[in-house]
Parts: sequence; structure tokens; C-alpha cells
Amino acid sequence: MNVRFADRRPEGAYVLALPMTSGALDAARLAALPADSVEFVRRAAVGLRFDGDAASTADLFVSEGGEARRVVLVGLGAADSDAAYERAGGALVAKLLLSGEQTLVVDFSGHSAAGDRAARLAFGALLRSWRYDVYHTTLKPTQKPSLTEIVIVGAGAGAEAGWASLKAIADGIFLTRELVTEPANIIYPQSFVERVRGPLSAAGVEIEVLGEAEMAKLGMGALLGVSQGSRREAQLLVMRWRGADTAPIAFVGKGVTFDTGGISIKPAAGMEDMKWDMGGAGAVAGAMLALAGRKAKAHIIGVCGLVENMPDGNAQRPGDVVTSMSGQTIEVINTDAEGRLVLCDAITWVQRTHGVKTIVDLATLTGAMIVALGHEHGGLFANDEALAGQLTAAGLAVGDKLWRFPMSDSYDKLIDSPIADMKNVGPRPAGSITAAQFLKRYVEDGVTWAHLDIAGMAWSAKPGATYDKGATGYGVRLLDRFVADNLER
Ligand code: BES
Ligand code: MN
Ligand code: ZN
Repeated sequence: MNVRFADRRPEGAYVLALPMTSGALDAARLAALPADSVEFVRRAAVGLRFDGDAASTADLFVSEGGEARRVVLVGLGAADSDAAYERAGGALVAKLLLSGEQTLVVDFSGHSAAGDRAARLAFGALLRSWRYDVYHTTLKPTQKPSLTEIVIVGAGAGAEAGWASLKAIADGIFLTRELVTEPANIIYPQSFVERVRGPLSAAGVEIEVLGEAEMAKLGMGALLGVSQGSRREAQLLVMRWRGADTAPIAFVGKGVTFDTGGISIKPAAGMEDMKWDMGGAGAVAGAMLALAGRKAKAHIIGVCGLVENMPDGNAQRPGDVVTSMSGQTIEVINTDAEGRLVLCDAITWVQRTHGVKTIVDLATLTGAMIVALGHEHGGLFANDEALAGQLTAAGLAVGDKLWRFPMSDSYDKLIDSPIADMKNVGPRPAGSITAAQFLKRYVEDGVTWAHLDIAGMAWSAKPGATYDKGATGYGVRLLDRFVADNLER
């Protein structure tokens, strides 16, 4: 989707969209219409019960110089917020993407909104336009997107100024969605690295990759234990964006490119969903692209632990004891609790190698998270009040919402093991919290850490305001905003 900003409408065919604040269906806002259709459109809107409610639309035609011009009124609601504009843009694209129309003109003339709000509408529209049709070979013309261009008109000079940054964030989100959408025969640890290398390098991100031999030398027995039943070689992908001359912070992502459960194998029904068990790693890679793309003034290290969890003659067994890079030993009670085994070595590696003092990890870690929060919030676990507050605020600001959970020694002792330093699962209750307690055992003294369990957020069974059903890109905007609000000031 091409987005541009212009002083006046283009010539030729387009759909005309008019953003309307709730209850403000007045002639002034409709002045962008041909004069002889203003009253007609006003009455039609009343007839359609359109009153400018957030993300509502009224779709009609007016006569313009003998031609039928499609006009869509789109509601901004009553609250003047970025989110309302994004939702309106998303609603327009949801309606028009397959409509046959190629150009959407959103006319802000006569609208009091500041230009940066218009850019937000374009951002919501762009995000909602993303689809991944590469494996569809038999789509009929009417099933293919027709809309290729969005022109924002009359929004003033402020509109275009912030666009480059928003575009960079959208590029990051699209990379995440692509990685999450691709099936596991296409995206596996090495191909994940190759898929992100081009865009990240072009944006100025330094890339380093550790293979299994290097990880073995470092003693990453927990991560490698997960990988040993797979024919795909595990990778530790390290991405570095030096946008400021400061000490780095780290983002760490769970990148299980497919999670069968291993020998503790999952039931067949729904197992295909486990292609998106690399959603944390996808979000970290996407966030790195967004940050580099908008030249964020921050120093960030992104680490993705990439493995495939398979059952096989060489797979690890329940009861196996592995030694992590930290030196701590783990009794692997359930090979399906593999995400924490991958993350613990990635967390140790980034602390030992880069001396980071702040870590945020993202992981589709537990089904229990979905039981607790559904698909409305990601779970937040942290050892630091300030970091928890910053992440919560960033999430609220961009719509990637988080809800914090408790942690304590009483939860921690639930993962003590009779044979090793810890086991990789606790009892069924509080499964998301004991998973977080496991990770916390790898966070060194003096390091502030937060864990985001995004199991319910990486994928959506139904369309949302700014995404279609499928991969959401959750986490990219959250991390980007966290950096903008706390590291770039
Ligand atoms: N990747 C899953 C968690 C998951 C489940 C994410 C469903 C998204 C949707 C994780 O590796 C896993 O299998 N967790 C187990 C942990 C259990 C064995 C303690 C789970 O949640 O059942
Ligand atoms: Mn699992
Ligand atoms: Zn998993």
C-alpha cells in the first residue's frame, strides 16, 4: 500500500472518505462534497444511523459531474485520540481493500484535527492492509486486494512530518507478521535468520549468528537439549542497533519455529498453531527493524533463541537433566515446557556477553496465559516496579496492552527439583507464574528484567482494528514506544 500526502485531490477515479467526529454531522464537515450533494449525504447518513461513532462507516454514492463517486463517511468517535484515528483508517481499509477501488482519498479539509492525527489514520489504514497471499495461486480477481494507494488531503504540513517514523514501525510489524505467518517448513531457525538478514542489514542493524557448535562450546545445554530432536540446526540470532553511545539494553525473544511438544507430544488438534511459537522472536526482530528504520537514539541488542522442538530418536526425554549456560541444572519433566529452556540460555548469554542491565523478554510461553487473560492483554512479569510501569504505559499508549502478574518465593519453590537445581515445570495451577519464576532464576543481580507472555496475542482468530485475522504483530509497537518514551528522552 502506497501512502502519500497532498494538498488537493488527484484527478480521476477514487473513493472519497470523510472522517467525522461523533455527533458532528454538519454541513461544514461535508463541504468537501459537491455542493449539490451535501444535503443528500447528510440525510443518507441519518437514514443509515451513522453518527460518527468510532470506526463506524456509512458507504454511499453521490453524483459528481455525471459520474458516480463512492463516498465513505468514517467515524472518529468522541474522544480525540491517536487510537481513534488509527481505528478509522483500519475500518476504511477493511471495507475497501477488496472493493475494486484502487485509490482512497481521505479528505481532512475543514477538519480541525492536527496533521499528525491524519498520519495516524494513514498508519491504521496501512497496518490493516497487510495480507500474505503468497501461497494462494487460485484467487479470483474479486478475492484479490484492489486498493493500492491512500492519499491524505488537506491535513496540513504536520501530517507528513511524522510519517517516516510511522512507516518504519509498520515495516517492523509487517516483518513480524510475515515471520509468524510462514509455516514451519519455510521458517525454521536458519531460514528465520536469512529472512531477517536483508531488511535488518539494510536498516543498519549489525547481525551475529551462533550455530550449535558455538552454543555447545558456551555450555548452552538447555537450549540445545530442546533442539536435539530436530534435524534443523538451532541458531542464536543477535541483532544490534547502535543509535546512541550508551550502555545497551536487551530484548530477548522465544523463537521456537515449531513446537510439537517433543516427546511430551501435543495433541494433534490445533497443533498447526505452533508454527507461531516464534512470535516472541518475531516481535524482537520486527522491533529491531522499526527502531533502526526510524533511527531511534538508543542502543539495543535483540537476541532470538531459534530452535525447533521435535520428537525423534535423539530427542531429549522427560526426566533428562541438562546443564544451562549459567551452570544451573534443570530436570526436564515435560519436554513441552521448552520455551523457558531456550530463553534461559539466551538470557544468560546476553548478560555475560554484553553486560546488559535491563532485559525484556517476549515469549508465547504458556497456554495458561490464554486461560488467564484471553486475547486482550499480554501477561507482564517483572522484578522491577519502574520497568513494569514503563512497559504497561507503553503498551496502553499503542494498544499492545499488558497486565501484570505477581511473583514471589512461594511460587519459586514450586519448581525445586529433587535431582537438579530446578525442574522445568511446576504443578498445573499458576503455570504462567512458575514459568516466569523459572526465567527469573537466570536474571543476575542488579539486572532489571521483565517477561512478557504473549501466548494469547501473537495470533488472532478474528480481525482487529488494525490487523486481519492471523498474525497481529503484537509487541513491535510496544517495544518501540518503550524505547521512545524511556531511552530516547
Ligand atoms: N508454546 C507453548 C505455549 C502455548 C500454547 C502458546 C498455546 C500458545 C498457544 C509452550 O511451549 C507450551 O507448550 N507450554 C506448556 C507448558 C506446560 C507443559 C507446563 C503449556 O502451556 O501447556
Ligand atoms: Mn511447548
Ligand atoms: Zn512452545
